Amino acid sequence: MATGTSLSEVFPLSSRLNERGRLEVGGCDVIELAEEFGTPAYVMAEDDLRTRARAFSRAAGRAGHPQRNVVFASKALPCTAVLRVFAEEGLWCDVASAGELQLALNAGFLAERIVLHGNAKSEAELRMALHRKVGLIVVDNFDEIDRLARLVNDGELRDGDPQPVLVRATPDVRGQTHEKISTGQADSKFGFAMDEVGIAIEQIEAIAGLRLRGVHTHIGSQLLDLEPFRKAAAELSKLGEFPVWDLGGGLGVAYTEDQEPPSIEDYLAAVIDAAAEHLGAHSQLLIEPGRALVANAGVTLYSVESVKRNVSTWVAVDGGMSDNLRPMLYGAVYEAHVADRFGGATPCVLAGKHCESGDVIVRAALLDDPRAGDVIVTPATGAYGFAMASNYNGVPRPPVIFCRDGDARVVVRRESFEDLTARDVP
Ligand code: LLP
Repeated sequence: MATGTSLSEVFPLSSRLNERGRLEVGGCDVIELAEEFGTPAYVMAEDDLRTRARAFSRAAGRAGHPQRNVVFASKALPCTAVLRVFAEEGLWCDVASAGELQLALNAGFLAERIVLHGNAKSEAELRMALHRKVGLIVVDNFDEIDRLARLVNDGELRDGDPQPVLVRATPDVRGQTHEKISTGQADSKFGFAMDEVGIAIEQIEAIAGLRLRGVHTHIGSQLLDLEPFRKAAAELSKLGEFPVWDLGGGLGVAYTEDQEPPSIEDYLAAVIDAAAEHLGAHSQLLIEPGRALVANAGVTLYSVESVKRNVSTWVAVDGGMSDNLRPMLYGAVYEAHVADRFGGATPCVLAGKHCESGDVIVRAALLDDPRAGDVIVTPATGAYGFAMASNYNGVPRPPVIFCRDGDARVVVRRESFEDLTARDVP
């Protein structure tokens, strides 16, 4: 919510309300953006992405530790322009499929800075990773070890260079989050149970073409408490000593003004201290933030198509579950504002345009007398919105617009009707 002309941390850094009471992101008036580029649209503050990347790198680079790397979990926002920014900022990249690997390479990440994940990697994906010499493959299960053994024994790869790998462990540590994005519990589809990690390591060490470097874990996502990260490090220490530890991602963000996630600095201090205490101060440490790098850097713009009053006031906009599935999938709560009349008090349901009742973006929005034609903004939509977008109801996916110092540029164009039929085979 606005306070004077400054805005809460839910909005991109340096956002403000300008003299006309309109939201500005990256120096651009969002009403003008809506006029120029249409709605719905994802709007990203480019400087915000860089500032957060630098904050992570700075906090990770505290003195006295051999090597710590910040690995962007590209699934949060697999958009080439964003990947390019993070490659330029020196981050590494986490990819969870061959497609994400392709995007990361295409955006300029060095293969040696790419970490490949996945609980169901296909032979083709592993082959591509080996050929392209990715920095690390995170091995998830015994079938994958067999598959990798076959590929490396076939001499498929890396010019005789062994492939560095981590094993993914499931430490039975649960953070407080939605069950669909909790991964650290024993009954998880990801990784090896703690008592199987040793066997997995033995098997990997017996394969000449693989080089075991260490252990990975990712306990869950949107965690607003640091304790589970410490607990995970303590649990992992039972596995022994390794040159590399990858503690995954998961740092939560504020979706609404009242949420207070740990700062990047506090998160890294906690993770680094826990790693030093439990995992050895001399190991290389990787962390894999996704959401915390991009969520608050972006807002979504919609236009109001209709306002209807029955039991509730229904404000229907031109997007919805096709551009932000998170409210429907996880019950995620967002804020909404009329982009040129912040501080409203009319309780409204912000509904999408899709043909189902569950297509509600914000159940309890407070808007200023919304009317057809208004531009609505939902902040904190930079993560997992674009990534999980669809063409449901034949709705073309929105563009991504980068804003910086008052200049706006389209980095992903809006989908066209031609795109909707581009894969048809006549
Ligand atoms: N590393 C691994 C191995 C992961 O599986 C994930 C997320 C991350 C890092 C990054 O996590 P983050 O820092 O973004 O929390 N679609 C869901 C989120 C699923 C996350 C899956 N894995 C959502 O919209 O909340």
